[in-house]
Amino acid sequence: MGYKEVYAAWHADPDAFWMQAAGSIDWDRKPSKALFDDNAPLYEWFCDGLTNTCWNAVDRHVPTRGDQAAIIYDSPVTGTKATITYAELQDKVAKLAGALRARGIAKGDRVIVYMPMVPEALIAMLAVTRIGAIHSVVFGGFASNELAVRIDDAQPKAILSASCGIEPGRVVEYKPLLDGAIEMARHKPDFTLILQRPQAEATLTAGRDFDWHDTVADADPADCIAVEGNHPAYILYTSGTTGQPKGVVRPTAGHLVALDWTMKNIYDMDPGEVFWAASDVGWVVGHSYICYAPLIHGNTTIVFEGKPVGTPDAGTFWRVISEHNVKSFFTAPTAFRAIKREDPKGEFLKPYDISCLKYLFLAGERADPDTIEWAQDLLGVPVIDHWWQTETGYTIAGNPVGIELLPVKIGSPTVPMPGHEIHILDDEGSELPDGELGAIAIKLPLPPGTLPTLWNAEDRFRKSYLSKFPGYYETGDAGMKDEDGYVWIMARTDDVINVAGHRLSTGGMEEVLASHPDVAECAVIGVTDQLKGQLPMGFVCLTKGVNRPHDEIAKECVKLVREKIGPVAAFKLVAVVDRLPKTRSGKILRATMVKIADGAEFKMPATIDDPAILDEIRESVGELGYPGP
Ligand code: COA
Ligand code: AMP
Repeated sequence: MGYKEVYAAWHADPDAFWMQAAGSIDWDRKPSKALFDDNAPLYEWFCDGLTNTCWNAVDRHVPTRGDQAAIIYDSPVTGTKATITYAELQDKVAKLAGALRARGIAKGDRVIVYMPMVPEALIAMLAVTRIGAIHSVVFGGFASNELAVRIDDAQPKAILSASCGIEPGRVVEYKPLLDGAIEMARHKPDFTLILQRPQAEATLTAGRDFDWHDTVADADPADCIAVEGNHPAYILYTSGTTGQPKGVVRPTAGHLVALDWTMKNIYDMDPGEVFWAASDVGWVVGHSYICYAPLIHGNTTIVFEGKPVGTPDAGTFWRVISEHNVKSFFTAPTAFRAIKREDPKGEFLKPYDISCLKYLFLAGERADPDTIEWAQDLLGVPVIDHWWQTETGYTIAGNPVGIELLPVKIGSPTVPMPGHEIHILDDEGSELPDGELGAIAIKLPLPPGTLPTLWNAEDRFRKSYLSKFPGYYETGDAGMKDEDGYVWIMARTDDVINVAGHRLSTGGMEEVLASHPDVAECAVIGVTDQLKGQLPMGFVCLTKGVNRPHDEIAKECVKLVREKIGPVAAFKLVAVVDRLPKTRSGKILRATMVKIADGAEFKMPATIDDPAILDEIRESVGELGYPGP
């Protein structure tokens, strides 16, 4: 069957389609049906089935592929390489799960994981799901305050962390950040487990912090616990319009079924082959395609602790691909832009034989045509853009190479995947014709594995995603479809920006700037950047009577965002201005500010209060030394 037939088969009978896909998962009790719609427009899948995530990702493979590498750890920043077989992984995960259970972690309890890119991060995730607890991984580049916000929302009984992470040129001590977060948070975890790394040993607080290895060494292994299909496997916080992140809930069974389906159909992977997603476990790509999907499907996954450039050079990716025999490789376009900038002629590829590589997959941000073409020429394999979100956990629109390689149209992530009926709607919710730009919405129900709700925030879930277009999920992206049914993703419709493939909230940054005592008002916009896709740029108006030097205040603003959100925000551009451009009703004209900063043409908004302010914005951008797109 080709793509069209597979999509049509899903469309004709979604329940049959997903029940068939469910056949590749091990169940303690098989579900009676796929969709549970009694609570529409909130939908759930496989609710009456019983299964376990860790069993499907680890234990079930041990009899047939116990000696196969489950995880290859390759860390150019520490000069370490290691392989963990499925049998060894089972042992490590069962013992950590036993240690957690012995300290009181039970089904439904939350456990935060704040770790660098080491195999123990995956072991932690798997151990938590093994005993039916719910993990919430927090990206290491977030500062204490962001971690504290997540601690208060998820209310974890335990936090698993490491003494440090390693960024090129510096060791990032995680423990002081963790201590700061626990101090700041209203909720306190019962205990933490700390993985001591030789690059920076952490000081442990007696009675609360325990050494990871010592604790695990004494533990009795724990077995997998069967949980209901709709039991949450994890919560992953992602940026929304405000500083309060959204806790995306991932249900157990739909996650297993859908991810396993994607490995063959979207990534063309057969069990035993090596898959590599160069991302971080803190992001959804890391959850789905570093940890879960490759393991569920019996593949080998690579945990890479390094960067595309500088660790040690722009040939690192090619070395890893060739050395570990990677078949499908997945990363963000920004990583390729970084390599292209350092090594435009691809000299660093020459020493390596990468004939094992069959596909390059890109996602996380818009893949610009230059980068796609450059990668295609260099690697000589199909470069496949695909579009998805933390909320969905896997591809909404893609090119399903395991079914059929569809003609690539550069700039489009290709076509909707089974499970997703994509509509382009105008502001009133009416369908727009092909070629016209509108809000991208997906007809409900969303398929298995996608978010059924937000943690502790069902109302916010309804408001953010379901209320604008009744009967649809609002993606927050704008775009169009063409006459061949290809989807084109053009921009976000909210205040979310994408910096080096990392999703960030400009609203969240504005909240931080507004907390500066001298700032009366502010706006943060996303401007175009050659390397990172977008960069945040801030404009602040000062409180009356403040006479301090502007560059001093700007520096403090940069420091504040780094301290409150983290270095990952890459917030370095900020200007002090007299006023912000607004409509007569007082709404800040952020879209117009973006156009001015990027030097793009724009139509003077009819509702603007005072057009002269735009000149000040233009001048301030010039003074920031921002080179423009
Ligand atoms: N822990 C602590 N700090 C971190 C961190 C982590 N896990 N990850 C990033 N940071 C820091 C960086 O050190 C940097 O700090 P600096 O301001 O002191 O230099 C800052 O956060 C910004 O990081 P980043 O956006 O990664 O920029 P960079 O200049 O270090 O690297 C790229 C640029 C393009 C090489 C890098 O962004 C990259 O590899 N991107 C791939 C994108 C990706 O994997 N996205 C995931 C979704 S698929
Ligand atoms: P995240 O939840 O961090 O994965 O970010 C999801 C957002 O990133 C989407 O809503 C899009 O705005 C953007 N995005 C992800 N993949 C693509 C893609 N292939 N093309 C364009 N934008 C993308």
